[in-house]
Amino acid sequence: MKYLVTGGAGFIGSNFISYILNNYPDAELVCLDSLTYAGNVSNFAGFDKCRFTFEYADICDRERVFELTERYMPDFIVNFAAESHVDRSILYPTAFVSTNVLGTANLLDAAKQFKISRFHQVSTDEVYGDVDAPHFSVESDTLCPSSPYSASKASADMLVLSYFRTFGLPVTVSRCSNNYGPGQFPEKLIPLIIYNIMNDKPIGIYGNGLQCRDWLYVEDHCRAVDMIIQHGREGEIYNIGSMHTVTNLEMVDMLVSAVGRTALVDHITDRPGHDKRYALSCDKIKGELGWTPCVDIEKGLAKTVKWYMDNRDWCEDIMNGKYIEKNKEYIK
Ligand code: NAD
Ligand code: DAU
Repeated sequence: MKYLVTGGAGFIGSNFISYILNNYPDAELVCLDSLTYAGNVSNFAGFDKCRFTFEYADICDRERVFELTERYMPDFIVNFAAESHVDRSILYPTAFVSTNVLGTANLLDAAKQFKISRFHQVSTDEVYGDVDAPHFSVESDTLCPSSPYSASKASADMLVLSYFRTFGLPVTVSRCSNNYGPGQFPEKLIPLIIYNIMNDKPIGIYGNGLQCRDWLYVEDHCRAVDMIIQHGREGEIYNIGSMHTVTNLEMVDMLVSAVGRTALVDHITDRPGHDKRYALSCDKIKGELGWTPCVDIEKGLAKTVKWYMDNRDWCEDIMNGKYIEKNKEYIK
């Protein structure tokens, strides 16, 4: 099987490529990535170069997307490429519309033109907006995104599903909760906290810190996407999550004990429009595909902390901007 994976130099995309390479000895993967600030070619370390190809390309570049789709003729297109950080979407909303909406439209048109067997859209629980306890969002819930990021992801979901209804394009959509694990850019809560604890810096918590998130270890997400591509029904949406929510302050405590050091918490200005609680029902993927998470939060955080401790250079390269030079060297 051949996969075209967009955004494969980022956190989840690179973990997905690694998962497929390790579990399918015959799989070949092409990664299409424009190496924004979030892309990092160090994430390719350890990939089997005989079965992995990198193409430096922007999903907003329609001609290039068509050219690469025609050249590789993949069985599957898996779209991870996105502007993914909520805080940045508040500062630069149009970049999110370009990549997350228009970029997805280009990929859909290419998938349609070259009759790709499956287009999978990697979406997020944020499209439902925040939900009050005790509700757990189900796939048929009305979308109510709060930030420019989640609004752009919700728009892309709508577009993907419209290609199924109008053109019969074989699509699936997954909506996952917050991921954590190796290789996550340290602008997101968990790697940022780990970095700050390791470097004796205060932890900045937005507002009262009582916002709830459902945290899933990244490999569990990758396995779910794989199962959906292989066995999910065309035109369907699948939620993916741990069904276990924690507050941001509880997460700080768990990380402080996982790292084994103390830390100072600073309550700082809240994120505008901050979603208070995400929570997903995962009955559909459990019932239809038999997926359940394998890594519980204590084990997942311990593995993640160990990865960041063992890969201090990776983190420092990001913090001092050296990884950008390495990216440029790689594409020369
Ligand atoms: P990330 O920011 O770590 O990586 C995004 C990747 O996409 C980077 O390699 C970047 O260079 C690439 N990219 C960005 N714009 C591009 C463009 N125009 N053309 C080509 N490549 C481009 O993101 P992530 O956390 O790995 O998230 C991956 C996907 O999963 C996103 O679609 C995100 O919405 C979704 N998601 C993320 C989470 C999470 O907790 N991180 C949870 C649910 C869903
Ligand atoms: O829910 C899935 C989403 O999870 C993905 O779609 C997004 O791509 C991903 O970025 C993530 O969004 P969040 O906004 O939930 O993640 P983030 O790590 O930015 O923040 C998690 C929580 O921690 C949130 O309530 C905001 C808070 N926070 C975050 C940062 C970076 C802080 O209190 N302080 C911080 O410095």
